[in-house]
Amino acid sequence: MRIGVIGLGFVGLSLASVLGAKNYRVMGFDSDRTKSFEIKNGNPPFYEPKLEDTMRLALKKGFTIEDNISLIVDNCKLIFITVGTPQRKDGSIDLSMVKSVIEQIGKLLKSTKNKPIIVIKSTVVPGTTINTLLPILNKKSSKKIGKDFDVITNPEFLRESMAINDTISPHAIVLGGTKNRFMKSLERFYQKLHKGIPIIITNSQTAELIKYTNNSFLATKISFINQISNICQSIPGANVEDVARTIGLDPRIGSLFLNAGPGYGGSCLPKDVKAIINFSNKIGVNPVLLDAVEAVNDYQLENLVLTIKKALGKIRGKKITVLGLAFKADTDDIRDSVSIKLIRLLLKSGAKITAHDPKAIDNTKRVFGDKISYSDSTYSALEGSECGIIVTPWKEYSKLNEKHLKIMKKRIIVDSRRMLNPNLNMRYYPIGIGKIR
Ligand code: UDX
Repeated sequence: MRIGVIGLGFVGLSLASVLGAKNYRVMGFDSDRTKSFEIKNGNPPFYEPKLEDTMRLALKKGFTIEDNISLIVDNCKLIFITVGTPQRKDGSIDLSMVKSVIEQIGKLLKSTKNKPIIVIKSTVVPGTTINTLLPILNKKSSKKIGKDFDVITNPEFLRESMAINDTISPHAIVLGGTKNRFMKSLERFYQKLHKGIPIIITNSQTAELIKYTNNSFLATKISFINQISNICQSIPGANVEDVARTIGLDPRIGSLFLNAGPGYGGSCLPKDVKAIINFSNKIGVNPVLLDAVEAVNDYQLENLVLTIKKALGKIRGKKITVLGLAFKADTDDIRDSVSIKLIRLLLKSGAKITAHDPKAIDNTKRVFGDKISYSDSTYSALEGSECGIIVTPWKEYSKLNEKHLKIMKKRIIVDSRRMLNPNLNMRYYPIGIGKIR
């Protein structure tokens, strides 16, 4: 069976690579020619653990990059749509890429004998498939959905930095659409691909909502522990680590996503929470809890700046080292990264910034150019610094020691992830731990 993947970002490229490496014949397409060219030559357009090897193996087997989507529509039984749905100013999603792909597929369906299943993996708000995508396909193809082709919503839950593992072993598969032979066929495909993984079959609007529910619940967990972290930070000696570890032992709560920090970032959680808030307001439901989740998240950056001010006094003219630029460890992605927002604020206050990150320097240079300095080691980044701020929890930051502190101008560390041994010879300001005066 041939499989088409349209949109080769984190989701599409991981999916195409994993399927290709498993000997499926995968035809990939991305409208970005440079990106397609790089992929064809075995170079992933972003850093993601295990992606390069998996992708190269797939390219040696059945993964090809196509120049247009007509071959995909003519030949593939499954066509995965994995293009982005970026955030608009008001928080709603920009559907233009999904719509454009669906229009092209619709036109091509008109003249093909193939009867594909179009699988929507892009994150779209509830009702999008039924109210927007199906009418376009009906109109452009003049064919009958459920007979000549079908559309199934299949949201994706993979995490950046774990994209390959999550694609190989997802925690669940959600299929939204009509229970017909096309649905049976996609269910069989997934049963074969992921043995023993639960498959939930529902209608498309529920499938679309499941994705937003998943991400907004994760965001809620993070904001919840961040709220508690702020309370801890104001009680001398109280420690959010012990609180999180203990409540995490209650199986009703669970231990994951209880790491207090500078707030969630990345390409999904902030965007999805905003989109569901926008959607909820539009349908007349006041999203009070999700509004609060966002407000707490925004406050985390403020709290970090307040902590830095407490540690340093005046910021103007001070040399500050920012450790970690990516929105999380093991990625080079700086989209909606708290570090980037923090650097902007510190620059505004007149600080001189040196930044370090094992993977995200190149992307950060595109944002700040020569407005800040960059270091390729934590040691040189901290040289002469008056304050080090740990923002992204890269493992190597937990190894900071006396050697690093010795070359700083002042031994002040603000640690948003509580990674350091508090007994090191420094003035230590961990987020979520109340300072004993
Ligand atoms: C998220 C979802 O986890 C994934 O299921 C979905 O498909 C896409 O969005 P991702 O954006 O890759 O994945 O990152 P994730 O690991 O969820 O982290 C998001 C942000 O939350 C990061 O900034 C991270 O630092 C922060 N975070 C996460 C915390 O601050 N504390 C935690 O306990 C967990």
